[in-house]
Amino acid sequence: DKGNYRHFMEKEIYDQPEAISDTLSHYINFSDNQVVAVWRDTVFANVQSLAISACGTAYFAGLIGKYWFEHYARLPVEIDVASEFRYREIPFSPQVAALFISQSGETADTLACLRYCKEHGLKTGAVVNAPESTIARESDTVFPIFAGPEIGVASTKAFTCQLAVLAALAVAAGRASGTLTEKEEQTLVGRLAEVPRVMGQVLNSIRPRIELLSRELAKCRAVLYLGRGTSFPLAMEGALKLKEISYIHAQGYAAGELKHGPIALIDENMPVVVIAPHDRFFDKTVSNMQEVAARGGRIILITDEKGASALKLETMQTIVLPNVDEIIAPMIFSLPIQLLAYHTAVFAGTDVDQPRNLAKSVTVE
Ligand code: F6R
Repeated sequence: DKGNYRHFMEKEIYDQPEAISDTLSHYINFSDNQVVAVWRDTVFANVQSLAISACGTAYFAGLIGKYWFEHYARLPVEIDVASEFRYREIPFSPQVAALFISQSGETADTLACLRYCKEHGLKTGAVVNAPESTIARESDTVFPIFAGPEIGVASTKAFTCQLAVLAALAVAAGRASGTLTEKEEQTLVGRLAEVPRVMGQVLNSIRPRIELLSRELAKCRAVLYLGRGTSFPLAMEGALKLKEISYIHAQGYAAGELKHGPIALIDENMPVVVIAPHDRFFDKTVSNMQEVAARGGRIILITDEKGASALKLETMQTIVLPNVDEIIAPMIFSLPIQLLAYHTAVFAGTDVDQPRNLAKSVTVE
């Protein structure tokens, strides 16, 4: 049931504060701000590295997870799209565990990877939304995301719930390996616990701004998305969301790669969406943004209050979010990314919930 929403996708975007809250309640003990023993008590307890595979949006969640596992747990992560993973012929060692991410739990490429890893004797785990799915049944360990049914073909709440679980797992892994102290864990968990409230606040306030910008985007032929650090996978996710539902070509790039090719595309007809919270990468991303501005490129900057006050903004369009901690920024910054794609598609008049040529669950390789 869509309730008062026009599309399932819109409803699912607005479902996120509750979906994240449900999800976190299974991973976090709010009485002492600690992560429940999800990692220590599984086959993952003593692994030396992770190999993640997934497709599409779930892959981008995995890429953000890679930054977290490496930063908070010092656990090295390899990650591939599931359709390529098997072709690398990785020389496996028993200290590697394989982690799969899939909303449906039925994606053929991801399932094929899981079976391949099992044949090679790896320990396996899956971050899934559908607990009865094939991938959930065949994995040694299941980390459910509790997003509830996702009907819109474009994944939204499943993505942010995957992020919530990956963040909790990275913190749990950091504690298990001794990289994080108990106090650091409590601080990080406290930040995660703020996600539903901040999401609610953002969802209540950014719509008019997004609609204004989307009306313009709907007239464009191509859009570039840029980000650094965890905002780089988010740039790719933003581009995927836009192209799949509005049919406008979009590409997500690491901000630093701009000068290695794509800058040739920049002119006044090519909007560039820059995702830049005021984090340790901010200044570098800003200088990439100036390269775009100097070539007449139209910038839509998604930043936070600190970022906005550090810049002269007259020459660009902005979406300003509240200041949030680094560990929750990817979840909060997902909201404008999703809404920008959603409203652009609505203005373009496409079938938002059932984009052409796409299926919710891809069961062929
Ligand atoms: C994009 C989208 C797809 C899926 C991909 C994997 O919005 O929904 O890219 O993320 O097909 O699907 P799951 O997560 O079911 O394995």
